[in-house]
Formats: sequence, structure tokens, C-alpha cells
Amino acid sequence: MKKIIAVVNQAGGAGKSTLTQNLGYHLALKNNRVLLIDMDPQASLTSFMGLNKNEVTVEKNIYGALTDKAPLTVWDEPIHGMRIVPTNKQLASTEIEVIQDTVVDNRMRLRLALDQVTEDFDYILIDCPPSLGLLSVMSLIAATHAVVPLQTQYKCYLGTDELLGTIARIKKAGHSELKIACIVPIMYDARNKQDKGILEEIKNQLEGKIHVTKPIPKSTYFADASQEHVPFALYKKGHPTGKLLQDIATYIEKI
Ligand SMILES: Nc1ncnc2c1ncn2[C@@H]1O[C@H](COP(=O)(O)OP(=O)(O)OP(=O)(O)O)[C@@H](O)[C@H]1O
Ligand SMILES: [Mg+2]
Repeated sequence: MKKIIAVVNQAGGAGKSTLTQNLGYHLALKNNRVLLIDMDPQASLTSFMGLNKNEVTVEKNIYGALTDKAPLTVWDEPIHGMRIVPTNKQLASTEIEVIQDTVVDNRMRLRLALDQVTEDFDYILIDCPPSLGLLSVMSLIAATHAVVPLQTQYKCYLGTDELLGTIARIKKAGHSELKIACIVPIMYDARNKQDKGILEEIKNQLEGKIHVTKPIPKSTYFADASQEHVPFALYKKGHPTGKLLQDIATYIEKI
């Protein structure tokens, strides 16, 4: 079965783009055909993959497909075994441009656009923006699964109710097939009391309901790897965190 995975959290800097790139890489290493979709006008994923966001034309931008300006176009060259539909700040005007359209259900626009390429890929990973606005809702409606990176910090934990509530409402609104694949505790510092406490709290609250993966430790290598436009496991070959990312990809394959 093909999986379309929205990596979602309305909190800024939660690790969405980083996790999207790295899970995509590990899924691709396992011989899966992987497509990444950048649904954030900040275009971090586009940059992490080494593309210049200023060179993304309307035709090659997910924005073009969402606003009926062009058919969905996958970037020509594979990057680290993955394909991508990139974006840039033009994507921010999508909502305002489509709002007048009373024929198409605007929340369905990404889903409809992806229909053109789903046959070509085993996994499509969607990097959501840091809000629960139309771009994230479009992403969740297009998705079969949500993956939620969650920083082990009190402030971030507080926002999970709102996110899980939105996902529940989308399921209720006729998309009952959407499932939460897992919560990925991220930027975890095992020496920090608050991190340990929040991780325990997350596990206790969600036990039996949502799978919580092993935490991804805090590491400056993530930022360094993004700056070098490479996935973590290529930047730090043999580092134990690479194995953790690989294990999450394996889990996603099995669900
Ligand atoms: N496990 C980690 N340890 C330390 N830093 C990390 C980790 N994961 C990601 N980061 C860093 O945290 C910052 C934010 O990550 P990222 O851009 O992936 O988050 P995001 O949720 O996509 O942000 P935004 O909401 O702005 O889209 C980046 O500098 C990234 O390199
Ligand atoms: Mg991001």
C-alpha cells in the first residue's frame, strides 16, 4: 500500500523539515520510491535538499499545482535517492488566490494534485508549515498518515492537544482513513530533567493510543547536515542517531 505521510506540528522549529528529509532518505535507502513535497512557504526543505528557492519557477513549485497554474511537476534530478516538489514564498499566496473558487473544495487541492503522481511513488512525505491553516489542512487531507515531531519541552507539549484535535476533526469530516503513524520526540536531552519528565508524560498520556518512537537526541549535527544539504546519516556516517532515524523508517514501512 502506498503511504502519504504529512509531517505536521503547528509549532515553529519542531523539527518537521529535518525529519521529513531524514525519513525520506532512510525510506529511499530501503529501495522505496520516495517523493518529498514542500508545503511550507519558508521552503526550508527545498533549501535543505540543496535547491535554490529563487530558481523554483511557478511550473516547478507546488504552488503552481495548488492554484491550477500548472500540472504537478516533480523536480527533474533525484537528490540523495529522493525526488522533490519544491516551493518558495509564492506558496504563501495560495489561500488568498483560491478563496474565491466556489467549485473546488480548496482543502482537497493537494490531494487532487497528488493523484497525478501517486502511482510513481511508494512514499510521499509532506513537510507542513508551522500553522494549522489551509496548507496544513490540505496536507492532512491528502495524507494517509501523520507523523508528529514533538520537542520534549513543556511549551511544545502544550500544543499537542490542539494538533490532535484538528486531526480528529479532519477524520470526522469524512477522512476517517487518516491515521497518526507516530509521535517522534525530538531534540531530546537525556541530561535535562524537564526533557525526561515531558517524555514520560507524553508516553503515559498516549500509551495504547498513539505510538511514541524512541527520542531523537538533541544534536548540532542536524543543523550542520542541513547546511551541507545532506541527510544526517550521510553527514555523520555510523552515528547512533542515524540508526534511530532508520528504525523510525522501518516502523513506518510496517504500519
Ligand atoms: N534533533 C535535533 N537536535 C538539534 N537540533 C535539531 C534537531 N532536529 C532539528 N534540529 C534543528 O532545529 C531547527 C528547526 O528544525 P526544522 O527546520 O526541521 O523545524 P521545522 O519544524 O521544520 O521548522 P518550521 O516550523 O520553521 O518549519 C533547525 O536548525 C534544525 O537543524
Ligand atoms: Mg519546516
